[in-house]
Amino acid sequence: MKKLILVVALLLSAFQIDAQSYKPSESNLEARKAFTQKRLGIFLHWGIYSTYAQGEWYLTTGKLQPEAYMQAAGGFYPAKFDAQAWARAFKDAGAGYVTLTSRHHDGFSMWDTAATDFDIMDATPFKRDVLKELTEAVQANGMAMQYYYSLLDWIRPDYPKGQSGVWKDPSKADYNHYFEFEKAQIRELMALHPRALWFDGIWDHEDETPAFPWRMEELYAYIHSIDPACLVGNNHHRAVLEGEDFQMFEQDLPGENTAGMSGASVISATLPLETCATMNNVWGYRIWDQNYKSVGQLVSLLVRATSKGANLLLNIGPMANGELPATALERLKGLGAWMKENGHTVDGCSATGIPEQPWGVATGDGSHVYLHVLQPSRMPSNGVSAILTVPFSQKVKAVTCGDEKLPWKASKDGFVTITLPMPKPGAIDTIVTIGL
Ligand code: GLC
Repeated sequence: MKKLILVVALLLSAFQIDAQSYKPSESNLEARKAFTQKRLGIFLHWGIYSTYAQGEWYLTTGKLQPEAYMQAAGGFYPAKFDAQAWARAFKDAGAGYVTLTSRHHDGFSMWDTAATDFDIMDATPFKRDVLKELTEAVQANGMAMQYYYSLLDWIRPDYPKGQSGVWKDPSKADYNHYFEFEKAQIRELMALHPRALWFDGIWDHEDETPAFPWRMEELYAYIHSIDPACLVGNNHHRAVLEGEDFQMFEQDLPGENTAGMSGASVISATLPLETCATMNNVWGYRIWDQNYKSVGQLVSLLVRATSKGANLLLNIGPMANGELPATALERLKGLGAWMKENGHTVDGCSATGIPEQPWGVATGDGSHVYLHVLQPSRMPSNGVSAILTVPFSQKVKAVTCGDEKLPWKASKDGFVTITLPMPKPGAIDTIVTIGL
């Protein structure tokens, strides 16, 4: 009898493991692949916080009472919003996808949701479903649409207050109720066929004992039951959780942690990777934040992301009037000009096994390895030409830079040495192509 109980228990536990372990569908695996084929995504932090022009955290940083903050909805009228113009600007920049904040920590929904009235249709005079308009324009321009969704809410009473946010009556907290609200919203969002859902905010209840009952796996299973192809990612700054389809990093490339938010020490070896980064300092529009990265710095970030097998999700904070900030547009143009010429060295490319060098990085597509000289002054040179030496075990067919053939030598101990004319001053990325 004891044996029988043991066998049944073992079978049950095996079943549980099986029932819990997530197996991505074929369609999901295809979506993951597509995700990695276009390395540049555009992140948009847009909401009623844009009217304050103080970043997306203003409800909290400004210590506003929710009732006062919510009044911004009554004045949110992005008259200049033109989904087609935005989509074209992103497409021309060489982006393959767009991730829009569908609902940020302030709880305001940018689409016509039936789950709350605190949304663009019911609470603003604009009464246009901007999320749907943008989704259609982005998809019509051949890009994938994805949605950011905040798991925390600074206003709804049913979300139990965590470390962030200011005002909350703890007696009204009811996470199970909030969870059902989220599920209803997510079902609505998924009717628009986003390629991915991008979650954020579970750091709000970090390190609690007992652990906060987020029920993430249940939420992921719910999403995959509606559409198995939908990619799920979560900005929790940790190793991936069961049910996630890509791993994301904030303000740092995988393996780096200069901003203190990308501490995931375990980098997934199998899932697509993505780094999100601001163009200036803050995600949501902040009027005095002019600290924009240059086009050269953005190219470098994109190329370095690709060299680590990661996408770059580059953020813009649109303004309350519906325009993209002029500097952001100008940077998109610069990126687009670079991508037009050199997009093939990031799209369809990934890591090569060649480690980062003082002067730059390598990306590759299987039949070419691209050496990106991002810091020419750090190449050994005699002032006229420079020498690049990289570990290389594959057979080299030819080495070129633009139309020019470059002299090269392979050594028996697995290195290739290339002689390269010194790049012109100001060159942002000199690309040496090794044909395999
Ligand atoms: C952080 C911030 C949030 C922003 C996100 C983007 O989690 O709280 O405002 O949306 O990073 O990565």
